[in-house]
Amino acid sequence: MSAPSEPPYVITISSEKGGVGKTTLATNLAIYLKAMHEDLPVTLLSFDNHFSVDRMFRLAKGAPRGDVSQLFSGTPIEQLVETGEYGVQIVPSSDQLAPLRRELDNPQLLANSLAAAKLEGILIIDTRPDLDIFTQSALFASDRVIVPVKDAPSLENCRHIYDFFDSQQISRRPLRILPCLIDGRIHYDGPFRDPYQLLKAYAINRGYRCLEGYIAKSPKVESLQTNPEGKIYPVLTHGRQTDVHIQLSHIARQVYLDTLDKQQRRLDQVQTEQITRNRSSQNAFEKRRQAINRSCLVCDTPLVENDQIGSAGYFALGSDQQVGGYLEEECFTRLVFRYFYGAKRAIEPTDPLWDLFRESAHRSYFVLCRAPHTRNFYQQKLSFYRFDEGGLEVSHKTVELHEFEKRLLGKERSDLFPLLERTLFDPERKLLDRFLLVRKVSSDLPEEILFDHNFDHHLKVMQKISTQLPDL
Ligand SMILES: Nc1ncnc2c1ncn2[C@@H]1O[C@H](COP(=O)(O)OP(=O)(O)OP(=O)(O)O)[C@@H](O)[C@H]1O
Ligand SMILES: [Mg+2]
Repeated sequence: MSAPSEPPYVITISSEKGGVGKTTLATNLAIYLKAMHEDLPVTLLSFDNHFSVDRMFRLAKGAPRGDVSQLFSGTPIEQLVETGEYGVQIVPSSDQLAPLRRELDNPQLLANSLAAAKLEGILIIDTRPDLDIFTQSALFASDRVIVPVKDAPSLENCRHIYDFFDSQQISRRPLRILPCLIDGRIHYDGPFRDPYQLLKAYAINRGYRCLEGYIAKSPKVESLQTNPEGKIYPVLTHGRQTDVHIQLSHIARQVYLDTLDKQQRRLDQVQTEQITRNRSSQNAFEKRRQAINRSCLVCDTPLVENDQIGSAGYFALGSDQQVGGYLEEECFTRLVFRYFYGAKRAIEPTDPLWDLFRESAHRSYFVLCRAPHTRNFYQQKLSFYRFDEGGLEVSHKTVELHEFEKRLLGKERSDLFPLLERTLFDPERKLLDRFLLVRKVSSDLPEEILFDHNFDHHLKVMQKISTQLPDL
């Protein structure tokens, strides 16, 4: 039995070809493993929509507390597990996977959730005949993947599973082919005497490793699923006289011996990688935080207190990432009304227009940049753009800087001047080619925008916007 701190050994049964015996293998393997080692926790779940696992194992009456779909929304697996027939634990199946399939796109999510959970022993995952996000998630988390193949076309399909491992840059070592539904009546002349020998040779020829043995096609085994009682019976209890019983025992023994392997479990690896990733994103966040201006880019009021960024309303980043910092809400709002919305009078925070702007600013990106073809110092013009959340232009306005140049350079400087000096002017007060992307930030946690995910999103929008701005 695995040490208490060790995560479960995950076995996925997967094949893109339907009807090759995946569910039969997954369900019976769970029973054989449990029968071999009574104290070994064995858990079974399925991303299939046939509910075979539930029909075969579920003891509890009534609706389950949860199901497999919740593994993707952060519910720890141990809270979803029910003890079922034959001592096998199950996570109930879900009929809500179709909508979730359209939402999910990260095959690492399940592995991360399982790595953080407190489940022990062996976890067997049955999948649909499809390399959808659920199958991908299971493959990503697996120590062992058994790919049943029954003929040459199903063997051809295996390539996609191997390609998936390569695309995720994970070792192909867990993958094993298992010839299934082998018809013992078929014999060939020549070196490969029967379909098992032939499939094995095909597999080896393609560089695929096989489990030892195969599963024969057996009318008795077929009848265990299709019978007048509408039940699904295990091979162990109802098909002991068949070859399949011996073959399944043999496979279960192999799998069990593999679980004793001292190699690091896949979920342990996933957790280590997760810790490394967290550490590096924490470092990247710290670096960004240290690099930005510590005061409001407009009024120079210090915004960093006790190492926390406080009272910031907006975040601004230069398109070349050379400048960045926060702006107080009031500073930016006044500036926008005064210079770009042409407000004749000063707008105060009590004004309904102020609220209106704040509300809509949450769904906007703002850009400040030199207007095109205005490189001449005395004809500098500044464009102000507003983009929607998807990075599409909503409006823009250009103001001539030389109109207030005297004031800029004289004693009475405009509010725009210090912002430009800190972000868009070169030392000679000429507007650079960079643009400034401004975004409203959460007032509770202005740092949020510096977290990897949000910052990457900001950069993506910046990239999209840069393709829409006219050539300078
Ligand atoms: N060893 C066997 N001998 C004969 N029939 C079998 C054997 N294993 C499975 N079957 C039968 O083959 C059919 C398909 O099996 P199973 O449902 O396990 O395949 P599957 O790969 O899970 O299918 P799907 O891709 O639709 O989920 C079932 O009717 C089952 O009873
Ligand atoms: Mg199935």
